[in-house]
Parts: sequence; C-alpha cells; structure tokens
Amino acid sequence: MRNEERLDVARLRERFLERFGRTDVEPEVFFAPGRVNLIGEYTDFTGGLVFPCGVDRGTMLIARRSHDSRYRLTSTNFDLTAELAQDEIDRTYGDNWINYPLGVFDRFRRGGVELDGVDCLFAGNIPNGAGLSSSASIEIVTAFAVNELFGAGRSLLELVQLAQAAENEFVGMQCGIMDQFAVAFAREDHAMQLDCGSLEHRQVPLALGDHAILVSNTNQRRELNESAYNDRVAECARALAALRERLPISTLGQLTPEHFADHADALEDDPVAARRARHIADENARVRAAVPALESGDLAAFGQLMNASHESLRELFEVSSDPLDHLVRLAREQPGVLGSRLTGAGFGGCTVTLLPSAGIPAFERAVGKAYRDATGLTADFYVISPGSGVGRIGAAPSRNADSNGARSS
Ligand code: GLA
Repeated sequence: MRNEERLDVARLRERFLERFGRTDVEPEVFFAPGRVNLIGEYTDFTGGLVFPCGVDRGTMLIARRSHDSRYRLTSTNFDLTAELAQDEIDRTYGDNWINYPLGVFDRFRRGGVELDGVDCLFAGNIPNGAGLSSSASIEIVTAFAVNELFGAGRSLLELVQLAQAAENEFVGMQCGIMDQFAVAFAREDHAMQLDCGSLEHRQVPLALGDHAILVSNTNQRRELNESAYNDRVAECARALAALRERLPISTLGQLTPEHFADHADALEDDPVAARRARHIADENARVRAAVPALESGDLAAFGQLMNASHESLRELFEVSSDPLDHLVRLAREQPGVLGSRLTGAGFGGCTVTLLPSAGIPAFERAVGKAYRDATGLTADFYVISPGSGVGRIGAAPSRNADSNGARSS
C-alpha cells in the first residue's frame, strides 16, 4: 500500500481533535475492511451462495458521543462535513456519503436505542464505487461504533442485518446481505462461503500457494448503478413468482440448473426474467463446485468457474460493461492466468483475477498499457491479502491500521 493511503491512527486522532475540539470524552477508534467477492455474484438477494473475503483496505472511524446532542460527520475522503441536530438525522441528503451513517443511526433509533449525538471522523482507503464495498464498510464500522459507544448490546449478526436494512430502507438500494456480512465477519487469510438464505457460513482458508488474487479497477465512472441493480432485483422476483407455480421453491437461490432446464417454459413470455433465473441457478452451482475445488488445491478448476461466472454476468445477467470486458479479456491473455471476472455489482468497478504471484508486475504492465490503448482509461491494480472483519483498534494511538494485526475485535 502506498504511504499516502495509510490510515494513520495517531494523525487521524489529531485531526479529529482539531476538528471537533477536546472534551472530557476520549474518542475511540474502529475499523471495517472492504470486501472482494471471489465467486457467487448477484445471488445474495435471492438467498443463494456467495464466496467473498475481506480486503486489507477499509474505513477507519474515530468517534465519541457528543457533548451537546449534535451529530457531526466529517471524512478525509469527501468534501461535505455535516453538523445536524437530533431532528435532522431522519432523512437523506441528496446522494451524499453521510446517508450511510445516517441510515445506521435511523435503524438504531427505530429499534429503540436512544442516541444523543456523536462526533465522527471517517477515513477510508477503499476506492469508492469500485465494487469493493466502500459503502458497506462505512455502514458496518458505524453500526459497530454506535453499538459500543451507546451500549446497545446488539450481536454482530444483528449489526449486519441493521446495516443492510439501512441500505435497503434508508438509502434505497435493494442490496442483499453479502457485503455487510463479509465486512463484519471476514477472517484474515480466509474467504467465507455464505448461504444468504440460512446465513450459515464457513470460513475457508485461502491457500493459494504461489498464486494470488489481483483486483483491477476499470476506473470507469459508474452511472445508473442503483436503478439497474434494483431492476435486477425486480426481474428475479418475477422469475421466482412464475417458477413457484411449478416448483416447491421459496427463493430463487433454491433453483438448480436441472430445475431450470425442466421448467424454462414457465418463463417463455418473459425472456429477461428467464435469463436472470438461469444465471442464478448456474452461479449457485458454480459456487458449490468452486469451494471444494479451492479446498483440494485445484486452482485451475476454480479459475474456470470464475471465467464462466463472468460470461454469465455479461450475457445472462447483463451487468458487465465494455471496460470490464476489456480488462477480463486482457487478463485472460496473460501467461499463467487461471481466471478473471467482474466482481461486485458490475457496470464498471473492478475485476478479480487469479494468477501466479511472480507474474504480477508483468501483468500490470501489459494489461495496463493494452487497457489504456483500448479504452483511454487508466486501470489501478491491488494485490489482495484477505483481512479480518470489523473491530475496535487498540488504545495505542500510534498504530497503523493498514496492518491487520493492529486490530482487535
Ligand atoms: C452489490 C450488492 C450486494 C451483491 C453484489 C452483487 O455489491 O451490495 O448485495 O448483490 O452487488 O453480487
């Protein structure tokens, strides 16, 4: 990680005190990572399977209860700083970043937790809007901090559900539970297989040997992302309603490829819903195959499933973009690359690639140049070391949170 991207606790504490002044309450420090999804895309809101891991970048929050019942929110990443009274925190402000913490405050209050003001300084080093869950990271770190500062006594799973509800009901994005869950429960050097229907999850060691996970950012501006996402949710609901006339399923996540083959005619009047349902059925089957492949060390099989996932997201779920397809194609042309696919919500954002560690510098040079020639855009690359989930940072003020070892949860 480059130096300027470090989240330096001591410096951020100083900045907090300069901005908000000293009171007799010491600010506390919290951190939540971002996440990258390795496979299982757009399955979470259908109760399907996903396989994300935490990343070693995230959001740091320095926070304390305020002395005057006001809510002060500032960030080192965005211009807007807000100071709001108790009766001003129950609404969104345009499409501003403060909607994420405000949504979390709102869910706590609706759940009967009395908040009486908080001073917050956020600092993040996850690229925004890149499909690495910068928003879930803000929500979860806020939920964790509020829970601690106000003694709300919620479990980590309850905080995950609260943060997802904040995004669904306050921000208005009908996302599933994957991002908030991954950001909260991530474990260092592991990925997690999560069943978004039952919420059962299993941590799987990410033993890649001489291979690595590289995230490549298209740096394509994402537009219409939220409405296109909510359209996909509605299309999947339509598919489920039609298939339930034939099959004893309660979620689309229970649909198998065999079911789909036998009952595709139930969707013949709605080809869009049919394509979405087929993606969901196949993608769940891919996660079921990918996790054992990884556990048995068959990285080549894992990579092929990643490739198939991308094709399905492009053709059937229609959430890819030209820059994403360019990056994926260029990645697959590089020596030793086992698989490459878009990750997260698509429409721009990042790809995730499984490749030999030794080949990363040459990969970045070759793909970076060819991508710039093809699109006029400059890609960024991040090697991922799977980091651990949300937690409080220990009292020592000079620690650096870019080393996961500095956190205790
Ligand atoms: C976004 C959403 C998640 C998930 C992914 C796609 O990140 O927030 O809930 O649906 O897209 O897999």
